[in-house]
Amino acid sequence: MELSAVEPTSPAELFTPAGYARLFASPRARAFHLRWMAHAEEADEGIFDELIRRVDIPELNKLVAIHADDERRHAELLRGCADRTGMAPEPIPTDIHYIERLRRLSGGGGLEAIFANGHTSIMHIFAMLMVVEERGVRQFPLVEQGLRVSDPESADVLAAIIRDEQRHVGYARAISRRYAPDEATLEEVLTLCRQVEALAFAENGAAYHRFVTESGLLAAA
Ligand SMILES: [Fe+2]
Ligand SMILES: [Fe+2]
Repeated sequence: MELSAVEPTSPAELFTPAGYARLFASPRARAFHLRWMAHAEEADEGIFDELIRRVDIPELNKLVAIHADDERRHAELLRGCADRTGMAPEPIPTDIHYIERLRRLSGGGGLEAIFANGHTSIMHIFAMLMVVEERGVRQFPLVEQGLRVSDPESADVLAAIIRDEQRHVGYARAISRRYAPDEATLEEVLTLCRQVEALAFAENGAAYHRFVTESGLLAAA
């Protein structure tokens, strides 16, 4: 695959197959990015454990447990890919933590506040999970294409993760429907979730681009 080697000068350029390929040409930057993704995969902040306690439809509860295991496994797989570069882990600055940013922009609050409204809370959580999974389904294939240039083995790992994320979108939609009072309410919630997530993704992308540029990770390629 021929991908341009031009240095991406904006988040929009970085988050493309060519931008990723440029970033991943450096094993250090590749390891950093894979560990950054792993961090997001497992940054559930206790929400899955609480969902397993509260999702009271048995067949759906089983799916939540599978989802939690999938995300833990994704984090391990991505860390394994990062470790194969031979690069030591580097600290991930808090201002590029996507899930934490999303949580702040969603109004923050602890688990008590997040689960305060019973079934409505569960609908909200799965609507947001669905939107986050949709982001993965859109964005990860671009990462996979960029990764395939320097590290086809890791690109194959990511391709398998993408298949799981596609399944997660469908199941999150199904659960949010089961807990929604009606379809119109769910659509309103989804619209709001998409707006908040788009803002989180844009802000975090800008912070990530700034970080990899200023820290020399991008220039190291
Ligand atoms: Fe995942
Ligand atoms: Fe997922």
